[in-house]
Amino acid sequence: MIQVKNVKKSYHTGETEVHALRGVTFVIEKGEFMSIAGPSGSGKTTLLNLVGCLDKADEGTILIDNEIIHDQSKKELALLRRKKIGFVFQSFNLIPVLTAFENISFALSLLNVPEKKIEERTLNLLEEVGLKGMEYRLPHQLSGGQQQRIAIARALIKDPLIVLADEPTANLDSKTGEDILKLMKTMNRKHKTTFVFSTHDQMVMDYANRLIRLHDGTIQDDKTNPSAKG
Ligand SMILES: Nc1ncnc2c1ncn2[C@@H]1O[C@H](COP(=O)(O)OP(=O)(O)OP(=O)(O)O)[C@@H](O)[C@H]1O
Ligand SMILES: [Mg+2]
Repeated sequence: MIQVKNVKKSYHTGETEVHALRGVTFVIEKGEFMSIAGPSGSGKTTLLNLVGCLDKADEGTILIDNEIIHDQSKKELALLRRKKIGFVFQSFNLIPVLTAFENISFALSLLNVPEKKIEERTLNLLEEVGLKGMEYRLPHQLSGGQQQRIAIARALIKDPLIVLADEPTANLDSKTGEDILKLMKTMNRKHKTTFVFSTHDQMVMDYANRLIRLHDGTIQDDKTNPSAKG
């Protein structure tokens, strides 16, 4: 479903060059629940940004749904993201002046979905993430864990091919973080949505059905975990 082939990415700041990814190859199959782990600076965020079409690789190819994402314009990439990719971030990134309902439904209104359909899908998802009745709350009126639940609903509203989550539990206490992992796994099973999430945290890795370990911009290890939690 998604193929990453010999992808390389460097950053240039002043006179120094940082090789963030030094040739990374793997395939993400539909329905996977996969973690990218590795120490700080190993290239996790860089890799998620490339798969999420937020940035372009220097070398190598990425195929999403059999489509090579190299020569597209910024506009075409934005459209691809809007339709096929959901994002969950470490700091939730909800829009502070929009209610929970509006944060979740925003992406659908951009895709010209009829109002009635938007309302139905949004209220269903609010219930699925355990926040029924909280549709009028603003982000600052919600706890961190509740905000991340809204972010997960927002990512799922367009029924994306894949949800990319960069350290989704890093700003949550361990109990709340574990609840978020359980929710993501429930959604993965229920909607067959593919999830790829980065982490430093062993608890988070324990939920992954497959674990890729990055080290210094290369894949050190790629293993399935038949006894994953959740
Ligand atoms: N925009 C940038 N400009 C310059 N260097 C960057 C940039 N983004 C990342 N890097 C460098 O690229 C390398 C990989 O960074 P990346 O953010 O992908 O690591 P990470 O595994 O996500 O780390 P962390 O666990 O701290 O989030 C690091 O050496 C980092 O300093
Ligand atoms: Mg990172």
